[in-house]
Amino acid sequence: MRFQGKCVVVLGGNAGIGLAAARQFRDEGAKLALTGRNPETLAAAADEVGALGIVSDMGTIAQSAAAMAEIGEKLGGIDVLFVNAGVGGFAPVTEITEHFWDGIHAVNLKGAFFAIQKALPLMRDGGSIVITGSIGSITAVPGNAVYAAAKAGIRAVARILATELLPRRIRVNVVSPGPTDTEIFKRDASAEEIAKLRGFFAGIVPIGRMGTPEEVANAAVFLASDQASFINGVDLYVDGGCVELKS
Ligand SMILES: NC(=O)c1ccc[n+]([C@@H]2O[C@H](COP(=O)([O-])OP(=O)(O)OC[C@H]3O[C@@H](n4cnc5c(N)ncnc54)[C@H](OP(=O)(O)O)[C@@H]3O)[C@@H](O)[C@H]2O)c1
Repeated sequence: MRFQGKCVVVLGGNAGIGLAAARQFRDEGAKLALTGRNPETLAAAADEVGALGIVSDMGTIAQSAAAMAEIGEKLGGIDVLFVNAGVGGFAPVTEITEHFWDGIHAVNLKGAFFAIQKALPLMRDGGSIVITGSIGSITAVPGNAVYAAAKAGIRAVARILATELLPRRIRVNVVSPGPTDTEIFKRDASAEEIAKLRGFFAGIVPIGRMGTPEEVANAAVFLASDQASFINGVDLYVDGGCVELKS
């Protein structure tokens, strides 16, 4: 019960890694708030874990500010902020448009940064911020330039925030998944394409398979907890060995 009596906010908590983490936080006693854009999946997730559900697009700063205002009013403060919302997209450099770039960076970098900024006044001293990065930020995957740049940017932001927040004893860490079996790579794909992608990812992960959302959530929840009280500013790869065993 590492989160008994604590207020935990999961931005992007209605699917994949965020929902898996929300279930674990719930199991360990947290009072929860979840955000996401999809009202149906958000209502179902919030209902399942007994959370306050707030429809909020992290790509819009005003919506993050409004979400935090509601959290402040209804939960009173934040002990743990899990900034997990993110969008993906592949394109070769010659085909990248400003619209494509802005769509990914508005959420994964700018949106994540301003969500944290808007949450800070509510965060209790001694709390913890965990941000979902990606091993894409440090691996050379063709077509991944825009997403990789956004995730590298938020990793840099995390390191600096960790220093700025030292006086408040708020730790800031990043959890960086490798290929993980969530909706992010399945949306708009046929069953045949999904099977092909799973095979491809299994082939590039040293452990020989994709990760599960629960495996990434385990690491995020650990970093959020007091068990990680001496861990600050790290980027923890949860990737079946992709980074450390191949580079
Ligand atoms: N799966 C992987 O292989 C992998 C690898 C490396 C990193 N990651 C990162 O892991 C994180 C979670 O992704 P996932 O794999 O669990 O994918 P997912 O199943 O697609 O979940 C993404 C979550 O983020 C939310 N979200 C997306 N855009 C949002 C926005 N603008 N505002 C608020 N919420 C938003 C989604 O809810 P709505 O759709 O309702 O908005 C959903 O809850 C992301 O940051 C992703 O970049 C994933």
